[in-house]
Amino acid sequence: MCGIVGYLGSSQAAPVLLSSLRCLEYRGYDSAGVAIIENGELAVLKAAGKLSNLESLLNTKQPQATVGIGHTRWATHGVPNDQNAHPHTDCTGTLAIVHNGIIENYQSLRQELSDNGHTFESDTDTEVVSHLIEDEFRGSGDMLTAIRGAVRRLEGAYALGVVSQIFPEKIYAVNHHYSLAVGLGENESYLASDSVAVRQYTNKILRLEQSEIAEISTEGVKLYAFDGTTVNRSPVEVDSNPYVIDKEGHKHFLHKEIHEQPLIMRQTLGKYLHHPEKPVDFSAANGSGHHCGDSSYGVHLSKEDLKKVRRIFIVACGTAYHAGLVGKYVLEELCGIPVEVEIASEMRGRNLLVNGETLTVAVSQSGETADTLAAITEAKSKGSMTLGITNRPDSHLAQITPNLIVTECGIEVSVAATKTFVAQCACFYLLALHIAEELGTIPAARILEIKAQLLAIPALQEQILAREDVVRLKSLRHAEAHDVVFIGRGMNYPIALEGALKLKELSYIHASGYAAGELKHGPIAVLDRNVPVITVLVPGAVYEKTLSNAQEARARNAQMIAVAIDGDEQATKIFDTILRIPPVDEFLSPLLTVIPLQLLSYFIADYLGKDVDQPRNLAKSVTVE
Ligand code: AGP
Repeated sequence: MCGIVGYLGSSQAAPVLLSSLRCLEYRGYDSAGVAIIENGELAVLKAAGKLSNLESLLNTKQPQATVGIGHTRWATHGVPNDQNAHPHTDCTGTLAIVHNGIIENYQSLRQELSDNGHTFESDTDTEVVSHLIEDEFRGSGDMLTAIRGAVRRLEGAYALGVVSQIFPEKIYAVNHHYSLAVGLGENESYLASDSVAVRQYTNKILRLEQSEIAEISTEGVKLYAFDGTTVNRSPVEVDSNPYVIDKEGHKHFLHKEIHEQPLIMRQTLGKYLHHPEKPVDFSAANGSGHHCGDSSYGVHLSKEDLKKVRRIFIVACGTAYHAGLVGKYVLEELCGIPVEVEIASEMRGRNLLVNGETLTVAVSQSGETADTLAAITEAKSKGSMTLGITNRPDSHLAQITPNLIVTECGIEVSVAATKTFVAQCACFYLLALHIAEELGTIPAARILEIKAQLLAIPALQEQILAREDVVRLKSLRHAEAHDVVFIGRGMNYPIALEGALKLKELSYIHASGYAAGELKHGPIAVLDRNVPVITVLVPGAVYEKTLSNAQEARARNAQMIAVAIDGDEQATKIFDTILRIPPVDEFLSPLLTVIPLQLLSYFIADYLGKDVDQPRNLAKSVTVE
């Protein structure tokens, strides 16, 4: 979603802002802009569409400035056009702001400001902020006081970057329940809503915590709370290696990330499970060098804490929710604790039934998903134990959960989640094994068996990826479909949901995932010869029943596709197309069955000429509720 960047130093600001914005492209956006102070005057340059449009504008204008802020906007209030793109100015044209988040009371503020003579040029909620600061500044003549006065009027969660030609050597940054950090270089500072954007310049990061304002100048950074008190916090050093955002020879990031999955599995497993004979180790000391601010991460729940857990409650959105569903099966099977999985946005406006005997687990690749953060924050306030699973140890989620499992995926650039899904599932297996070891809920021999099988998964994933050409040929037979149905049972019901989500978001083909047993309760009505039905079929407890459900689809002349194991002869008789995987224990099969479905969606989307890495309307990090 939206991204904020800023630069203040002695170099040319425009190239730095552009390069920083490039690092945020993966988050999803539909317009971009910068505000710079050129020869003491504010200049705003912005353009709808891709960053290349802004780049052309900057190349034409060649602005000379050493101070500026920039933004990528993902439209919420107002269509994605030049006017609604950030930065937004006040009536005097001397002040510009960029904004992430939503100003919830913007309508009443806009009315009030308009009644007082302010003129608005966009449809955004953002623009009220520049006019509010303008009013407050007129009264006080002091920018910090003006910003503090303005934020007192705002409702919602937001981050802001502010520049003014009246203070041409300063940038102001505001964080309220959002994410914002200042990167500190040699006599220069960088602002970013995602530290990925500044790691190319510095690994010294000063994070703004909740309800804080930073005044950035050539002398350094001063931090203030919203009430005006000074905040003293030292910067932290993050990984010195900048994230490498490179396709490394692949046509798309998505293809690269699908192929990274065996490596990711090895990294995530290797971090927490050193040997089948040894217990799963989530202790902070077992980290690989990441730091979340100045605190290290890990699972700090004692055996006594775990004994108290009567219910596990998983909250997440989208693909992370599907990983949570896999987690439910795994945790219930190994730990014997009832698990509920909820779509985080569905937790709003209702009574969250958690308490001190509940463990609430938030799953989020980005660690910045607003709905997931809201749900875990509420669970925590009700006394629930909390744990986060994320790929970003520097995220907001990492700050608010005392227990954190970090997936070792590196940055996931493609908007569609693939490698992080597999890593999140792996973390659920590890978490369940850890709880089972602590509480002795299953025999040690079974734990040993699962660990050995888990460690063998990456090699099996490699076998699937090695046959991707076959998957491509078979997938393209169905590229012209308008509706696709995915079915699965048990552990592979979440994979049917995930398969449908991947196809939808990448190819824009309508797809739905169902529990296979549900097909006859309604969805079967849509089946005919034009509809492919993709069945996830793995030998085990639900194999025969899944096969029967597939037969129901075959009887309606649907195009029959399966993900099935090598050597499954029954499948050969029923399905027209089979995407093969190596034989695998049903319990661990989601770690394999999802891969042919990721590939199918990728190949169809690429064949149809879709924007594979940045599908229309989607954002990588959904920071609004
Ligand atoms: C998956 O392909 C999507 N990008 C989306 O469903 C995503 O999983 C969801 O928005 C949750 O994001 P998070 O993991 O960063 O919280």
